[in-house]
Amino acid sequence: MMISLDGRGPLHRQVYRALQDTILRGEMSPGARLPSSRALAEDLGVSRTVILLAYEDLLAESYTETRAGAGTFVSSRIQPGLPENAGFGPATEAAGVKRPVLSRYARRAISQKPDAVYPGKRDLGLRFNFGYSVSELDPQIVRLWRRLLSKHVTDSSSYYPPPQGEPGLRAAVARHAGRARGVRCDPEQVLIVSGSQQSLDLAGKVLIDPGDHVLIEEPQYHGARTAFLAMGARLDLCPVDEDGFDIRKRPANGRTTARLVYVTPSHQMPTGAVMPAARRLELLAWAQENGAYVIEDDYDSEFRYKTRPIASLHSLDRHQRVIYLGTFAKALSPSLRLAYVVLPPELVGPFVSAKWLSDLGAPWVTQRALAEYIEAGHYARRIRRLSRRYAARREALLSALRSGLAGQATIVDSAAGMHVLVWLDGLAPEALPALVAEAARREVHLPTIDEYYMKPPRRAGLLLGYTLLSEQDIAEGVRRLTEALASLR
Ligand SMILES: Cc1ncc(COP(=O)(O)O)c(C=O)c1O
Repeated sequence: MMISLDGRGPLHRQVYRALQDTILRGEMSPGARLPSSRALAEDLGVSRTVILLAYEDLLAESYTETRAGAGTFVSSRIQPGLPENAGFGPATEAAGVKRPVLSRYARRAISQKPDAVYPGKRDLGLRFNFGYSVSELDPQIVRLWRRLLSKHVTDSSSYYPPPQGEPGLRAAVARHAGRARGVRCDPEQVLIVSGSQQSLDLAGKVLIDPGDHVLIEEPQYHGARTAFLAMGARLDLCPVDEDGFDIRKRPANGRTTARLVYVTPSHQMPTGAVMPAARRLELLAWAQENGAYVIEDDYDSEFRYKTRPIASLHSLDRHQRVIYLGTFAKALSPSLRLAYVVLPPELVGPFVSAKWLSDLGAPWVTQRALAEYIEAGHYARRIRRLSRRYAARREALLSALRSGLAGQATIVDSAAGMHVLVWLDGLAPEALPALVAEAARREVHLPTIDEYYMKPPRRAGLLLGYTLLSEQDIAEGVRRLTEALASLR
């Protein structure tokens, strides 16, 4: 294999960069086998340890995958070719156009295929849309928002917003998070961001350098995975069980300790597991002992159907180790692009600086309208109304699945959130794309679980959302799903 080393820094990083470049340029396609470490070491005249270290780095950043006994392969998730296939943006194939020299960050970002997991792609216009994580915007809320926005557009439009966020909204958020989730904080600890995704990006910028380790759930929210990988983090996967994340299952890294942990303890994304108090306390104790920060992504905690919401991780934290993320994307709309972070006091300054450098502050008019919306009690009322509606839809989905897929599926449901996980027991994971296509032919959109895994699961799983369909449409959608499944057998 012909690769050339650039002579900069340690040898294993030179080999890593050369292979990364070969993969990103498409000179080795997804699925191609890398040479054995021994053969490449001989080719390059370096020790085998150098090659093994480089292969380890490529694997940690998902450029490659291993198959037991068969060797190392270019990851099937990698989108080769730079920058034409950069996902977002127009194609730039015109003759004579020189390829831009992209930063390492850009190369890593592109290799995460951001367009493939871009949530807006999920709405395919199919009538029975089991898409999850989005709420309906009913006419009542549209009317209210129109009134609030036109009121606030007049008095805030000619200034830049305060970069930490509109003070009225920060105060409203602190009260709401305290009441609803036991997050005790001062409004000075609240930062308003353009979606939780921005919080992840800021956390990456403020707390990690390329090569640092981040502990993350497996399976995990792909928005977090891709943000941290683009930052150059090395992800340590912690397998999730029916009780969610378990710090005791972290991989052994010798003396390297993760700087950051990302968890979804109230409703694990995507499995729905709820982390019990004992595990939460163990995680906090570990974070305190190791000086790590824990990001608690509380993305859909508003919705809990049978029991009271379990207290947030933040409410148990006595040592300021938790960075709490809340979003308005679930109970209001992802199109608002408004969310918040509750920060340990010593992190407020660094986060606000990074936020300011990134966009000079979140949109002010919407922040003011939202502050009034919360303060007037509309937000709490909307959550109560949606919870009642979603509880009925969830019941409809569970009963349709239990009768339609009896003996063919395992349903994982924690009576919370906006989706349930369904494992299709008799179906091989490789047959999932065919099922999705069969379902689409019947006007049914079926989201699958695979994009949430770093290592593909050995079972076929669906994440079925129930927030966008009426109870009748849920029953009909499941009937069509059953039909699609039967057509494969
Ligand atoms: C776990 C998790 N966190 C965050 C988000 C997105 O939040 P935002 O729209 O505020 O960026 C999602 C969206 O589905 C999610 O599933």
